[in-house]
Amino acid sequence: MKRMIFATGNAGKMKEIRMIMEGTGYEVISMKEAGVDIEIEENGSTYEENAMIKAKVVAAITGDTVLADDSGLEIDYLNKEPGVQSARYLGEDTPYAIKNASLISRLEGVPDEQRTARFVCAIAAVLPDGRELTTRATIEGRIGYEEKGNHGFGYDPIFYVPEFGKTTAELTEEEKNQVSHRGKALELMKKELNRTI
Ligand code: IMP
Repeated sequence: MKRMIFATGNAGKMKEIRMIMEGTGYEVISMKEAGVDIEIEENGSTYEENAMIKAKVVAAITGDTVLADDSGLEIDYLNKEPGVQSARYLGEDTPYAIKNASLISRLEGVPDEQRTARFVCAIAAVLPDGRELTTRATIEGRIGYEEKGNHGFGYDPIFYVPEFGKTTAELTEEEKNQVSHRGKALELMKKELNRTI
């Protein structure tokens, strides 16, 4: 079986990509499983750039097909903040309870219709022959008034999805994967790879 490396250290993302790539004939392994244990600086200005930076660094080391992702939360009222800086907003090690409370307080008094937001995910792939592919997908929602739900991670407890009447932290893992920015961007990449390889 051909192998594909997903350039992440996040176990949740590995589980998701393995589920989505099942049946493609690829064994998906993590960076660590491929013996690549490095920190990659994400200094691009777009999600696509950051994902491609990660994929290229790992591809240069291993020569395998490498996928990487980059994602973030865009809040329209805050000029699309925290955006590509989502992981680093108020500091990388700051608990999400504090980051989420900060965003809610910055939206104090802002009515529902102006609380629109989206999660964005870009996936980049570098193939062994050097070809590069990217895909992008979003999930649209609104910023809530308090944290709700215990699933997911990061900004999920404040990201309310009107069509479900729930935050993404109130969805099960399977439900979220079907509609999430990352799930959809991975599905698009799977189609791109099927067409290209
Ligand atoms: P990265 O893509 O791993 O660099 O992470 C981007 C950051 O965006 C995460 O650390 C979270 O803060 C935020 N984020 C991205 N996707 C989600 C999601 O599905 N739920 C909650 N927060 C997310």
